[in-house]
Amino acid sequence: MNFKKYKAVIFDLDGVIVSTDECHYEAWKMLSDEEGIYFDREINQRLRGVSRMESLEIVLERAQKQYTDEEKLEMATRKNNYYVEKIQTLDQSAILDGALEFIDMAKSVGLKVAIGSSSKNTMTILKQVQCDGIFDAIADGNDIKNSKPAPDVFLVAAKKLGVNPKDCMVVEDAYAGVDAAISAGMDVLAVGYAGTYEIATYSAKSLGELI
Ligand code: BG6
Ligand code: MG
Repeated sequence: MNFKKYKAVIFDLDGVIVSTDECHYEAWKMLSDEEGIYFDREINQRLRGVSRMESLEIVLERAQKQYTDEEKLEMATRKNNYYVEKIQTLDQSAILDGALEFIDMAKSVGLKVAIGSSSKNTMTILKQVQCDGIFDAIADGNDIKNSKPAPDVFLVAAKKLGVNPKDCMVVEDAYAGVDAAISAGMDVLAVGYAGTYEIATYSAKSLGELI
């Protein structure tokens, strides 16, 4: 990977910088158990990178009844309340292998660094793991209408950085996020769960493998 040909790196948050998988899984599992909806870890994998409301729609594929929009909103809020309670327990040990070192490496060759995440809890999570001061820009679920695989969050991040999208590289763990980066016209390094996705520009098991 020729790092120096980029001007910025935009990192996804969940599954790239911080391990929140278990918190999301447990919160969705609590909600689905209460509603009598089948939910497992395989379904949970399909929620990577996808917004809260779109995640709920995936969970509801297994529901036995139709829910009104009002009920859906209540369920998404209930899941989020469980999730927010769980992420209070996160600390720096939740930072994923190589993430901080990779960020330092990017900064040391003059690249800007940003977050591009679908999560509306981005700031809470970054504060929780004491990483809220290390990025030049943060674009998250609060900045966008269309979530990944739409390119929006990465384009907002590039705009906030003042960098042309073609000069950005994205780091992603979700298929939806890799698709989003490509439609934003950015190169993408796929790690973790998306590490085997063939359309990514680069891939690795974890960021730790690259430092
Ligand atoms: C993404 C996660 O980063 O954020 C998804 O990969 C999640 O699983 C999405 O659904 C939205 O998160 P939040 O915190 O706004 O519910
Ligand atoms: Mg992710």
